[in-house]
Amino acid sequence: MTATLTKPKYEIKDIALAAKGKQRIEWAGREMPVLRQIQERFAKEKPFAGIRLVACSHITTETAHLAIALKNGGADALLIASNPLSTQDDVAACLVADYDIPVFAIKGEDNETYGRHVQIALDHRPNIIIDDGSDVTATIVKERQDQLKDLIGTTEETTTGIVRLLAMFKDGVLSFPAMNVNDADTKHFFDNRYGTGQSTLDGIIRATNVLLAGKNIVVVGYGWCGKGAAMRAKGMGANVIVTEVDPTRAIEAVMDGFRVMPMAQAAPQADLFITVTGNKHVIRPEHFDVMKDGAIVCNSGHFDIEIDLKSLGAKATEVKDVRPFTQEYKMPSGKSVVVLGEGRLINLAAAEGHPSAVMDMSFANQALACEYLVKNKGKLKPGLHSIPEEIDKEIASLKLQAMGIAIDTLTPEQVEYMNSWTMGT
Ligand code: ADE
Repeated sequence: MTATLTKPKYEIKDIALAAKGKQRIEWAGREMPVLRQIQERFAKEKPFAGIRLVACSHITTETAHLAIALKNGGADALLIASNPLSTQDDVAACLVADYDIPVFAIKGEDNETYGRHVQIALDHRPNIIIDDGSDVTATIVKERQDQLKDLIGTTEETTTGIVRLLAMFKDGVLSFPAMNVNDADTKHFFDNRYGTGQSTLDGIIRATNVLLAGKNIVVVGYGWCGKGAAMRAKGMGANVIVTEVDPTRAIEAVMDGFRVMPMAQAAPQADLFITVTGNKHVIRPEHFDVMKDGAIVCNSGHFDIEIDLKSLGAKATEVKDVRPFTQEYKMPSGKSVVVLGEGRLINLAAAEGHPSAVMDMSFANQALACEYLVKNKGKLKPGLHSIPEEIDKEIASLKLQAMGIAIDTLTPEQVEYMNSWTMGT
C-alpha cells in the first residue's frame, strides 16, 4: 500500500496491520531497558532537533524502538529495509500509523523495489545515515556526491558493512565519519554471538521443524556469528563441524571442541549447513554434488551471496516450495538439496531476528553513536571511528543494572597497582 500516487509518504504492506504491530513492539520493549532510558532522555533533551535521519535496518520490533527513540529525540527520521525478506509488515504499519514515521519496506520486496527505497531514503537528504550492510552509504558515495555536504556522518551495524567501509576508506572515497557500531564490545560480543546463535537456530526450526539433536551441522565461518551458531547447535545436541579459512579462528574452533576440516570433506557428511562468513560462494556446485540426499543449506550472513544458488538453480531439474521459506531443489542425480529463506538471513526471513534483549545493547550503541556524531559535528575526521569506550561501558553498566546484577569496583590499592610499573616480584 502506498499513501499517494505521486510522492508516497510511505510504502508498506498494509496499514491495517498496525494494531498487531503495536502489541508486538510493546512486548519487545519489556526486554529493552537500556534503550528505554536513552529514549526518555532524548525526549527531554531533543539532541536531534533539526536533523534529517535515515535508518536502513531490518524493520523489526526492536528497530521500532530505535526509531521511536530517535523521533522522540527530535529527528526527522525515515526508515527503509536493509534486506528484502526481513521486514515485519505489522511493525512497519504501526510505525506509520501510530508514530508518524515514514517507512518504505515490504517483506518480500524485489531487488528493484529495494533499490528504489534506497533512492527514496537519499531523497530525504539525510544528515545522518544509520546503515546495516552499507547499501545507503555506498549509494550516496556512488551516486549522490552533491549530498555529502549535508551528511554529518553514518553509523554501521554489521560486520559486512564494516568490511565495505574499510574498502571505501582504502579507495579514498570515505569522506565523512562513520561510526563502527559493530565492533563495540556491547554489540558484537552479544548481538553477533548470542543473538545470531539463538535466532539462526530459531529460523531453521521455524522453517523446517527438524530435530537438531544427532544431526551433523556444518557451520561455515568462525567469526562471532559462527561461534554463536556453533555453540548453540552443540547445545541442541548436534555434531558440529566448522570450516574456516583463517588459521587462528580454526584453532579456536578446535579448542572449543569442534571438528574442523575443508568444505570438500565436510560437504558429504552434513545434514545441515549454516553459512556465516560474509563472503561469496562458500558453498558451490562441487559441494552440492557430493551432499547427502535432502541436505539443508541456509545462510545467516548479511547478503545472499554465500551459497551459489544461481549454479544450484541451473543444475536443478525442479524447484518446489515444500514449506514457507523452504524450497527443494531436485538434482539430475535424483537427490535433492533443501534451501531455506532463498539464501537470505534465515534468522530474519523465517524467524524474528535477534531477541530484543541483545538488540537493546546494539541499538543503544546506535542511538548514542548518532548523538555522538551530532555533538561532534565538524570535529571528527573522515573514516571509521570506534564507539568511545565510555559509551560502551555505560551501556554495559546500564544493562547490568537493569538485570539487577551488581559487580565489584577496584580498591584504591588496586587502582594504584594497575597504574604502576615499578611493583614486580
Ligand atoms: N539484526 C538481527 N536481528 C535484528 C533485529 N531483531 N532487529 C534489527 N536488526 C536485527
